Amino acid sequence: MDIERYLEEKRVEVEEALERYLPGEEDFPRTLHRAMRYSTFAGGKRIRPIFTIATAEALGRRGEEVMPLACAIELIHTYSLIHDDLPAMDDDDWRRGKPTCHKVYGEAMAILAGDALLTLAFEVIAAMDEDHDPSKVMRVVREIARAAGSMGMVGGQAVDIESQGKSVDFPTLEYIHIHKTGALILASIRAGAMMAGAGARELQALTDYGEAVGLAFQIVDDILDVEGEREVMGKETGVDALKGKATYPSLVGLDESKRRVEELIDRAISSLSVLGERASTLSAIARYIGKRTK
Ligand code: IPE
Ligand code: IPE
Ligand code: MG
Ligand code: MG
Ligand code: MG
Repeated sequence: MDIERYLEEKRVEVEEALERYLPGEEDFPRTLHRAMRYSTFAGGKRIRPIFTIATAEALGRRGEEVMPLACAIELIHTYSLIHDDLPAMDDDDWRRGKPTCHKVYGEAMAILAGDALLTLAFEVIAAMDEDHDPSKVMRVVREIARAAGSMGMVGGQAVDIESQGKSVDFPTLEYIHIHKTGALILASIRAGAMMAGAGARELQALTDYGEAVGLAFQIVDDILDVEGEREVMGKETGVDALKGKATYPSLVGLDESKRRVEELIDRAISSLSVLGERASTLSAIARYIGKRTK
């Protein structure tokens, strides 16, 4: 399968759908809506919504059926990037190949754009009750809320910030990565599976897959901060070491970090065996994540 082509096709579909969910540039309050759109449409791989779509497809559904959920997860991810880049957090000036939201719109508007994207995400998911079983939608709301909050992504971000400039042990590093990045990736897969009516065995297999690819994704992010190219990635590189961030390369070295990624990708792919041929796209996405350069 041509995974690059699949990712590109789905990226375009996700962007078309996002366009429908975001308020227009001219909608009042304009600056806020412009800031929300600026960061959402700045580029980005859209890997989380693609996970949701590919999971639904692996379970025999059409990607369109989970598009609102897929977009909602991308809105949450975009909010997390805007806040992650703020001076009070990672203090970054570049994101997705453009100046960060706060550089263009100011800190106050960047905070509010993040708040509004997070809230919009839950409005979009809740509205799925028009076409889907409401109790299924409620389960998905709960799954996403938990993954995004203090027991998930925000919890990971809190420990990331508290650990900055300190020497952390391996369990703390793993906690940070599993939560700040792994949790939302896992939820993008699990929520897609729930919406598509996965059985218990399928959901367990996809959970194992999601945990492995979610952690691998952040280890690769750390590796790319050391070895990646700024122009390709659209964000500053070499900054984690300067900021004293807790990263895999800083704690276990580059070679061991890469070995760990390979191991996690292998584990992710073998978790899918119960799904058989239906999971070939998910396997290809896992392989892509192990080899990505942006
Ligand atoms: C960057 O995420 C931040 C992390 C959680 C590692 P992505 O690498 O998915 O960024 P975009 O969405 O493609 O810009
Ligand atoms: C970001 O981790 C995690 C979230 C935004 C939740 P990083 O701080 O490593 O992401 P980049 O490197 O700025 O994209
Ligand atoms: Mg950060
Ligand atoms: Mg950052
Ligand atoms: Mg990073």
